[in-house]
Amino acid sequence: MPDLSVNDLDDHVRSVLVEIAGLSTIDELVAAEPTLLGKRSGLQQLQRSLGSLDLDDRKTAGAAIQEARRTLEDALAKRRAVLAKDERARALERDRLDLGDVVVTKVALPLNTGHEGAITLTQRALEDVFVGMGFTVSEGPEVETDWYNFEALNIPPAHPARGLWDTFYVDLGSPETVLLRTHTSPTQVRLMEVAVSQNALPIHSVMPGRCYRRDAPDARHLSTFHQIEGLVVDRGITFGDLAGVIETFTKAYFGPEIESRLRPGYFPFTEPSAEFEITCTICRGAGCRTCSQTGWIELGGCGMLDPAVLLAVGIDPDEWGGFAFGFGIDRCAQMRHEIGDLRALIENDARFLRQFS
Ligand code: PHE
Repeated sequence: MPDLSVNDLDDHVRSVLVEIAGLSTIDELVAAEPTLLGKRSGLQQLQRSLGSLDLDDRKTAGAAIQEARRTLEDALAKRRAVLAKDERARALERDRLDLGDVVVTKVALPLNTGHEGAITLTQRALEDVFVGMGFTVSEGPEVETDWYNFEALNIPPAHPARGLWDTFYVDLGSPETVLLRTHTSPTQVRLMEVAVSQNALPIHSVMPGRCYRRDAPDARHLSTFHQIEGLVVDRGITFGDLAGVIETFTKAYFGPEIESRLRPGYFPFTEPSAEFEITCTICRGAGCRTCSQTGWIELGGCGMLDPAVLLAVGIDPDEWGGFAFGFGIDRCAQMRHEIGDLRALIENDARFLRQFS
């Protein structure tokens, strides 16, 4: 490089700026840096030549050199940033998989929003069947008093039938007066009370909801489960009406090839009472492990309203009669979807739950 003088400074800066703009890789930039700005640069050479100038000239020249240095440093830093960005882009391009003819398209995945579970869906389907038969749908509280859950249903204190329902008592009021309802039957009582006070008999209603029993969970039982109860209070109702409703429901919900049957049973609030069973949906009546080789599965209980229950809520049993039935919503879901173990409904395994979306 020919010797520079301070008068050449502007030209020198311009030519170095052109060189900087012409650098095309970071490696090139690193290699060129010493001659552009560093020890072997024109600026450094000028700096050294300042010693031969008198004091005033030295000051002005020194300031001009500093200014030029800042300009070039700035330009070099900018060029470095641009080259680094280019190189990153080139590296990404290099690392891309060669997919040949495969066309990669961006797909907007649906948001995973969740959905109603098997029990809720089953409850809605059951409600639909009964609404189609002319029933309304009613709901009652899950925390009940002894009166609604037991006494009004003809189950006085110390009655042995209380043993049929393993009860969770709530620590409220005097001991054993408030409880998590063991069945949906207390809603029958509430509905009858309302109908009496509003002079709104007859009643044709179903009452779905969550119930609780001190049961150890197993393949066919959960301690928190769901029932749907039916209640009819009207004039001239017979056992034939009850059997007809059960049979119509069975065919509508499970299909025409599934039958229902009633077997003698006992409930304190109905007389006569019956257990109702349907053809096992797993073996279609042939007999299998699920139905203990009988071909039938018990779904719930039913019966004609005991006059004592009507009297307890102020309905005249000589004028009005009726029937009630109640069965497990969870058991229906199990039978309809052939779920081997009911506990799958509450275990939150996404692979199981997804099947009901
Ligand atoms: N509540 C009874 C139970 O939980 C079922 C039932 C309802 C029986 C209505 C008869 C009438 O076992």
